[in-house]
Amino acid sequence: MTFIPQDVINQVLERSDIVEVVSSYIPLKNAGRNFKAPCPFHHEKTPSFVVSPDKQIYHCFGCDAGGNVISFVMQQEHMEFPEAVRMLAQKVSVTIPEQNVQGKPRAQARQGLCHVNDLAVKYFHRNLLSDKSAEAKAARDYLKGRGITLDVVEKFHVGFALEKWDGLIEFLRTQGVSLRLMEKAGLIISKTKGDGFYDRFRNRIIFPIFNIKKQCVAFGARTMEKDNPAKYLNSPETEVYVKGQHLYGMNWAKEAIGRQDSVIVVEGYVDFMTPFQAGVENIVASSGTALTVEQIRLIRRYTHNVVMLFDADQAGEKAMIRSLDLLVGEGMHVRVAALAAGEDPDSFVRRYGIEKFKARVTQARSLFDFKLTFLKNKYDAKSVEGRAEISAEMLATISRFPNAIIRSEYIKKLAQALFVSQEALLVELKKISGKHLTPSQAGRKTGSEQAATTQKIRPVERNVLRLMLEEESFIPLTKAEVLLADFRNEHVRNIVEKIYEFCEQGNSVSIPALMSCFDDQKISQVISSLMTSENALVGDKKKIHQDCVNRLLQERMKSKRQEILHQMEAAKSSGDQKRLEELALEFNQLLKRE
Ligand code: GTP
Ligand code: MN
Repeated sequence: MTFIPQDVINQVLERSDIVEVVSSYIPLKNAGRNFKAPCPFHHEKTPSFVVSPDKQIYHCFGCDAGGNVISFVMQQEHMEFPEAVRMLAQKVSVTIPEQNVQGKPRAQARQGLCHVNDLAVKYFHRNLLSDKSAEAKAARDYLKGRGITLDVVEKFHVGFALEKWDGLIEFLRTQGVSLRLMEKAGLIISKTKGDGFYDRFRNRIIFPIFNIKKQCVAFGARTMEKDNPAKYLNSPETEVYVKGQHLYGMNWAKEAIGRQDSVIVVEGYVDFMTPFQAGVENIVASSGTALTVEQIRLIRRYTHNVVMLFDADQAGEKAMIRSLDLLVGEGMHVRVAALAAGEDPDSFVRRYGIEKFKARVTQARSLFDFKLTFLKNKYDAKSVEGRAEISAEMLATISRFPNAIIRSEYIKKLAQALFVSQEALLVELKKISGKHLTPSQAGRKTGSEQAATTQKIRPVERNVLRLMLEEESFIPLTKAEVLLADFRNEHVRNIVEKIYEFCEQGNSVSIPALMSCFDDQKISQVISSLMTSENALVGDKKKIHQDCVNRLLQERMKSKRQEILHQMEAAKSSGDQKRLEELALEFNQLLKRE
């Protein structure tokens, strides 16, 4: 990860104008001091997307998206933070210094590996197109036999590794690549005797795997022999390739996925290529395993809508079942498509055509129906035990939906499907809920529930925070009296902590800069919602501030008193008379102080 110093980020924030940036994407209308528009991040008819030129922030009161100009670009362009900062920096002519000392060698090493991989891509590709050997010819025939045309081979840089121990080594040597680097790229293997190296991939069709920046990070290599038990060989993990963090095809598919706001996830390389070539471009391949959280988050940068289309075999079904819960947990909307038994997407498209394939995708079932059918085959739904097993596994999925209304709908459906009572299901649901919340899920919620979280902040805390952000003079006043622990809302506490820190360092607080201190988008949303909300504080701000501070102090006293009362109870029941007297004294002193 590249490192950009905070002062450079602040400079970018100061020089960028959020109104200018936002209106280069969507038309903004004047609305008093602010600007309004229909939200670019969710469908709506009446505009609830507000941009504040004074505060340089935006907020949508429909979906709760919000933040500063950097968050806007991140969300709009599906970029990670550093990428968005770089893009804005270029616009406003801020130079980003080269990476810090630690970052630099690593980034350079990664570049080096990608470069070696790219050379290998060219080498393998040229072999496939024009090598004269018998095995290269056989590879061309093999692909032809599978209906993989030259167009496809070129588009996806498909290649061929010759049946030689050092074909790639020799080629890379002529390009000035050291053996050490070839080994680091996972392209060669050292001989067990320790004298020299040999090519990892031999006599195999090569599918290069690219990251979303279109750099080659790894390879998948398929044998052409029917009975070879290792049908595919993959690159090992390297500095640029961590298994489960990439999705094959994302580099070609990302635009279509964003445009169509949905993605089809298949298993194999070829299952990706055949539909893509036939015009279904919103597709990626998981490379034959269940999806990982990292892969799901990669998808989530482009869309929340996923259609799972794994092979119609046991392994495929199992991998899909494992993926579903993670997908739901990450706030994705999932459906499951099915093919005829024994088919995979590649063979299906070849046999029935792309229109039938599209129809299967359109007919994808809800994840609920899919999983229920799967479980009804796995367990005996006629026996009580079987129904209990089915319920337990269904509830594991249902419990992951962040939205309570959706959960209760599914409980109702499940109760009907299994002839069990909703009450019983709810009891079981309670037992498991919260057990498997991922940190991201615990911190991040989607849609309307998110809006609710912001609302859940008590007015007294909202007011104090808002006053501090509106007028800096309220910061030292608050800091002198209110402790971090006096704020019950965790987000508010985090924000106030940062504000106090700014104050201690003698820095003034700019709202966009404050937002950029937090990785958690939710925190920016709390601030943007608070600062663009129309119910302004009416009346004497000093008085409101004092009232709120008093209220927080009273609450602190009250909880202290309760704490002492608890301790007195404990002392009483253990017969500790001395402790009881001490506590009583403390209690009375507290009362006097009020
Ligand atoms: P074709 O047989 O060429 O059509 O490949 P496929 O994509 O249909 O293969 P399959 O459905 O058997 O496997 C799906 C994906 O799982 C492949 O694209 C590979 O990424 C992966 N895979 C399959 N077999 C192996 C294997 O033996 N080793 C490894 N590492 N991965 C495999
Ligand atoms: Mn196949």
